[in-house]
Amino acid sequence: MTAMDADRGQLGGQKIRDVVFDEATVQKRVRQLADEITEAYTPEDRLLVLGLLKGSFIFMSDLVRHIQLPLHVDFLVVSSYGKGTVSSGDVRLLYDASSSFEGRAVLLVEDIVDSGLTLERLLPRLRARGPTSLEVCALLHKRVRKMEPEPKWVGFDAPNDFLVGYGLDYAEDFRHLPYIASL
Ligand code: IMP
Ligand code: MG
Repeated sequence: MTAMDADRGQLGGQKIRDVVFDEATVQKRVRQLADEITEAYTPEDRLLVLGLLKGSFIFMSDLVRHIQLPLHVDFLVVSSYGKGTVSSGDVRLLYDASSSFEGRAVLLVEDIVDSGLTLERLLPRLRARGPTSLEVCALLHKRVRKMEPEPKWVGFDAPNDFLVGYGLDYAEDFRHLPYIASL
């Protein structure tokens, strides 16, 4: 699909370069991830799906609708980027989940792993709250460097471009696109 085809009025003259993962491709992969997650847990795990806002909001809402298990949802807001496109490594918790993690399997849902610094800083803090397990499901992974541990679920390996759409933004624009594009 060309950038021209992608403009169904939603871009309103804003420019994207290429559609990297189109809507059907994203939807198919999200269903596969949901099936794998359904297989990996049982109702006794008391799954808590924890979305990292704002970037995960569309991915998370599609994902949980296909998970065939009882679950709760909660959210965290962290900020590490401001208006720039390069990670500062300074992860600030702007809004914390109110749910107790104790006795629950926590699945953290992230839009994209780039440097991995956001997860590296955040995961120890979440683990300290005593979940029975803590795993990560990331829609996109740029594989910029090796992480320890790697996310258990990854939707797509991503090119090392700046990506927008399906929740991902550039300076808050483009989050509402139903596909993933490069700028
Ligand atoms: P990391 O800390 O470098 O792994 O970056 C993680 C966060 O940076 C993600 O949750 C996104 O919010 C943001 N980010 C990284 N790469 C991109 C991108 O290509 N497009 C949009 N946001 C990105
Ligand atoms: Mg983010």
